[in-house]
Amino acid sequence: MSKTVTNHSFPGPTRLKRGVGARFTVSSLLLAWLLASVLVHRLPHEALDRAGAPLLLGADIPPSVADVFARACINCHSEKTRWPWYSHVAPVSWLIENDVKRGREHLNLSRWESLDATKQRLLLTAIATVIENREMPLHRYLVFYPEVKLSTDDSVRVIEWTQAERRRLRFSGSRLPAK
Ligand code: HEC
Repeated sequence: MSKTVTNHSFPGPTRLKRGVGARFTVSSLLLAWLLASVLVHRLPHEALDRAGAPLLLGADIPPSVADVFARACINCHSEKTRWPWYSHVAPVSWLIENDVKRGREHLNLSRWESLDATKQRLLLTAIATVIENREMPLHRYLVFYPEVKLSTDDSVRVIEWTQAERRRLRFSGSRLPAK
């Protein structure tokens, strides 16, 4: 009986060494994780030049439609991205940065005015299509932000606006000399 108690209070040298080793491994993994979170990024998180630019500049867009874009699309499709805390922590940060990078490559609402009318019209069609097919906002994003899911009203409003804006661009384009 007394022998067992002694064994417990004085752990053998082997057990002690294994405990320290495990602690070293855990802390070096944590350190590597921290460094990766801070150093390895697909996209910078700091404010971009266009962060203050209005969305869809130059478009004729009613506030109710602009609100839908501002609520549901700007985190990935503009330079007004709001980065949640977990977007700073690898490897989640890499997944989110990848979505934002690819999202902006397809459609950057902060640089709308830099596109020519033909490109704008193509994107308007693409917007209507992804909304009609309920492909956007991305489903994995809706898991974190269920409140940004578009209602039927939102969808109809955006789709009708894309049609009106395409017509407007076609008619304003016809008065300009062909490029
Ligand atoms: C979580 C990020 C995210 C959100 C939020 C988001 N998108 Fe996207 N979007 C993407 C990514 C990533 C792609 C590129 C998809 C691909 O490469 O397959 C994309 C592609 C697109 C495209 C291009 C499709 C094509 O055929 O070229 C359109 C248009 C679009 N999104 C519209 C929207 C609209 C409108 C909203 C808001 C209602 C929205 N997206 C919300 C990430 C997002």
